[in-house]
Amino acid sequence: MISKSIQSCREAIYRDLQQCRRGTFKLFTDIDYDTFCRQAHPDFSPVGWHLGHIAYTEDLWLLQRCAGLKPVFPQYHQLFAADILPKKQRVFLPTLPEVELYLDAVRKKVLDYLEVAPINEQERLWRFIIQHESQHCETVAFVLQMQRKKEEGSSATDLVTDLTDFRDVRDRRKKKEGRLIADYQLPITDSPAIEIPAGEFYMGSDAAEALDNERSRHLCYLEAYLIDRYPVTCCQYRDFMESGGYQNPDWWSADGWKWLQGEAVSQPLYWSENPAFSNHPVCGVSWYEAEAYCNFIGKRLPSEAEWEKAATWDATNQTYRIYPWGEEQPNGSLCNHGNNIANTSPVDAFPKGASAAGCWDMLGNVWEWTASTFDAYPGFESSPYRGYSQVYFDGEHRVLKGGSWATFPQALRSSFRNWYYPGVRQIVAGFRCAKEFAR
Ligand code: AVJ
Ligand code: FE
Repeated sequence: MISKSIQSCREAIYRDLQQCRRGTFKLFTDIDYDTFCRQAHPDFSPVGWHLGHIAYTEDLWLLQRCAGLKPVFPQYHQLFAADILPKKQRVFLPTLPEVELYLDAVRKKVLDYLEVAPINEQERLWRFIIQHESQHCETVAFVLQMQRKKEEGSSATDLVTDLTDFRDVRDRRKKKEGRLIADYQLPITDSPAIEIPAGEFYMGSDAAEALDNERSRHLCYLEAYLIDRYPVTCCQYRDFMESGGYQNPDWWSADGWKWLQGEAVSQPLYWSENPAFSNHPVCGVSWYEAEAYCNFIGKRLPSEAEWEKAATWDATNQTYRIYPWGEEQPNGSLCNHGNNIANTSPVDAFPKGASAAGCWDMLGNVWEWTASTFDAYPGFESSPYRGYSQVYFDGEHRVLKGGSWATFPQALRSSFRNWYYPGVRQIVAGFRCAKEFAR
């Protein structure tokens, strides 16, 4: 299937399985049993459930379906399968050491099987399993953040609550305009809009790690458009809040306004009054809030294609990049990911991570909402099961791109697609603005 020596493929999968697992266990250090079992939000399972479900899924696909083995712990089937128990009944869990035992028992057999498995036929499935774990870990990371927020109360983490401080730093930024160096204390008030010339580019991916929804790679033509260099920052979003954005139906679509009346919110879920966050991307907004902000400033959300072209297409060399910065694997100096910081970072903190077009902070930090609904690319085929992507091609889910501070490196690339309902704000999501290009 993929022309690479079988042995080096096995070694790469071994390395990624184990690296991913270290990241998983790291998330669970210092988690007490109460936190392990608690449901932070009705739409999300307890973090302990995610841990067991990771082992269950690895056992199901690699040991049962591929190796033809019996389930390692059949008594966990009912509890950890994806679609048996309703989320609120997933709170009755074994202890962390017991679930770790389950993970270790499955992993031991998986590593034995890896030595003999026909990896050339199964590479996509193994890569899926690694990314399945990565994605559940990302959910664990933001569910833990939600729980912490609830326990501490929303203001205890904020060192400064005086709004004038915010304006003060903003004014200081203005005085220093013209400076090129990144300085997180000085809010970025302007995100230069970058012109992306009209033309074709390759969208999606056929690489071994590409999930079903990324395939197949296809040519896509776009007219010229403008896209912002940075995601929308807290400082910029504050203007919307202070201008009564949450009280003014003019900025909201009919669906958005309806959503807002039901939620009765007036700031992003992960909002902080601390001015140190002024250059961080706004985080914890629903698609509707992103849409309203765009209307407020006379811009719009980019389509998924517009986002991906700005991240991947090198117009000068007419070449494609896997990551905005090129082909180098993600690391801590290129973007904020993998719980390295376990929080957002300033949008201008990673100059080396910029795309060929000149967009910064496209991977990591916060997921970015796009205008697009989640749909199938040409030649789509469900893999490994319909319930992974296909059942979500319902015209309701919106695509998010780019990954967040919690995204593991194995699930971080420009072609990766995430999707949620437009009203969801618990995920680590912000957005970037686009605009028509008019000469
Ligand atoms: C693509 C992140 C929305 O977590 O619900 C995990 C990924 N699918 N197990 C999710 C997924 C099955 C999915 N998201
Ligand atoms: Fe799952």
